[in-house]
Amino acid sequence: MINFHILTLFPEMVMQGLHTSILGRAAARGDISIEAVNIRDFTTDKHGRVDDYTYGGGAGMLMQAQPVYDAYQSVIDRIDPNKPRRVIYVTPQGQPFHQATAKALSEEEELIFLCGHYEGIDERVLEEIVTDEISLGDYVLTGGELAAMVMVDAIARLVPGVLHNGESAETESFGDGLLEYPQYSRPEIWHGKRVPEILLSGDHAKVDAWRMEQALARTKERRPDLYEKYREAHPPVEKKRRK
Ligand code: ADE
Repeated sequence: MINFHILTLFPEMVMQGLHTSILGRAAARGDISIEAVNIRDFTTDKHGRVDDYTYGGGAGMLMQAQPVYDAYQSVIDRIDPNKPRRVIYVTPQGQPFHQATAKALSEEEELIFLCGHYEGIDERVLEEIVTDEISLGDYVLTGGELAAMVMVDAIARLVPGVLHNGESAETESFGDGLLEYPQYSRPEIWHGKRVPEILLSGDHAKVDAWRMEQALARTKERRPDLYEKYREAHPPVEKKRRK
């Protein structure tokens, strides 16, 4: 069970996106909880502003410390003070997000995501509340919401109970550091293309061996970087020489 708390200026975007499909059902069952906290609700500015000019000049506005801090504090006030918690600022300046990051975070109980907008957030509040800065990748989005939603999705599906078929989180791409093998469903022939014969054989050992071969070949071709890593961790078994 993880409680996700997302500090954002666009709560509807986050709630709509994350309460759909598998995560929506998981939240309804109580396997996870997801709340969006509207940072704007916490501003003390009488016009409802949450941003201002940047000291030192430069284009664009910056999110101010006060509303961000008070929104954070409103969450903290509701969390058991003895429970560990992580506060994740999603930013292109953070550490890259990987499957291993998702796995590590899926073992937490309270995760607070902070989504920035405009040119970013006043550094002083980041220093006080943030435990992790994480980036979705080397590109810039208009705000942190989509990045946070991607991370929440990747983390939540690893929480026990969220995916009913416990196996699927383990056997798919990246579970073991390889891309997934190709898969086929009915009919046996579509647009003149046949399902590989071996998959119809009913021989599970052969099917497993074929899938492994395909996963290795695909990873080697499409992601040589991942293949290299996999090979370092799993050196190929040397075949016995025939006498
Ligand atoms: N906000 C804007 N761009 C981002 C990125 N690449 N990762 C995380 N948060 C972001």
